[in-house]
Amino acid sequence: MVEFAFLTKVVAGLKRVKRVLCTKDGRGLSRERGADALPQDDRRSRKPEPGNGSFGVEDAGDEAADRRGRVYIVGAGPGDPGLLTLKGKRCLEEADVIVYDHLVNEDIVAHGRPDAERVRLGKPGSAGRLSQDAINRLLVRRASEGKVVVRLKGGDPFIFSRGGEEAEALAGADVAFEIVPGVTSAIAVPSYAGIPLTHRHMASSVAFVTGHEDSTKEASEIDWKAVAGMGTVVFLMGVSRLSQIVARLVEEGRAPETPVAVIEWGTWPGQRTVTGTLQDIRERAQGMRRPAVIVVGEVVRLRNRLEWFKELPASRRGTEAKRQQEAAPTKALKA
Ligand SMILES: C[S@@+](CC[C@H](N)C(=O)[O-])C[C@H]1O[C@@H](n2cnc3c(N)ncnc32)[C@H](O)[C@@H]1O
Repeated sequence: MVEFAFLTKVVAGLKRVKRVLCTKDGRGLSRERGADALPQDDRRSRKPEPGNGSFGVEDAGDEAADRRGRVYIVGAGPGDPGLLTLKGKRCLEEADVIVYDHLVNEDIVAHGRPDAERVRLGKPGSAGRLSQDAINRLLVRRASEGKVVVRLKGGDPFIFSRGGEEAEALAGADVAFEIVPGVTSAIAVPSYAGIPLTHRHMASSVAFVTGHEDSTKEASEIDWKAVAGMGTVVFLMGVSRLSQIVARLVEEGRAPETPVAVIEWGTWPGQRTVTGTLQDIRERAQGMRRPAVIVVGEVVRLRNRLEWFKELPASRRGTEAKRQQEAAPTKALKA
């Protein structure tokens, strides 16, 4: 009897040691380790309430924790698959379900298990595209089924990406979630074009601005005077509104000679950059395709000396074949 009690204690002790070892390096994402391997600080502690399907991670036993569903909202970066974070990759390897944006490189999705359910969302505004509500419901439903879901988003999930809205929906439904930041196109795309956004002698401030404000807003929330006064300004989703952007900046006092770059398909093998000034960029950038980033500021001049990506041999710039932005969504889903 004494021996049995002793053995039980040893086994319990070993289990505790295993748990500590798994959490020490913050890598608690493997399927085998389950939710219990998440670092204590990473867990969302909630009081379990009977019957509401909430997770109560801290109090749950190993078995219950393994069964619980959760959502990782992961940033995929702007295109180059090498810009995915290690944590993002581990989430993908663990996922039962991957819900991803149409611009995400398929080479990144390929980190998922072959048997994982894959849901590729159509272009925003296209016929096959799920509404934001439907996407939120899909995430909640799959996690409530006990599945590990990766919501893979272009760039960083919290930069002009509705990642905040999706997290709010998960929090509202009491679904456990984590945010895995990604490399935003606002920074990576200028970098790949040889444009440092700040420079000791040229720009001490940088602003990220949407070129496509929510059309339901009555008035613009952008303080154009403040934007025009920033060292460097990076516009996302602005290529179709280039004329208006240029006009507003000049109106608010930015010199018409200020250099501008428009960079399309940044970090992809077909990346293309056109430069000019606030005066002539509209003409020069005609025909530039989305997605594109617009950079305004003196730092654009550095590109002449620092452009490096274009100089790489084609084999080092990745494979164009994986660009699937025009393809239809993999599934027409009803969420
Ligand atoms: C809906 S926003 C999403 C931004 C994303 N969350 C991020 O952090 O990069 C989409 C816009 O990001 C920019 N973008 C994303 N990927 C890009 C790329 N590879 N090259 C150029 N611009 C890109 C474009 O301005 C595009 O219209």
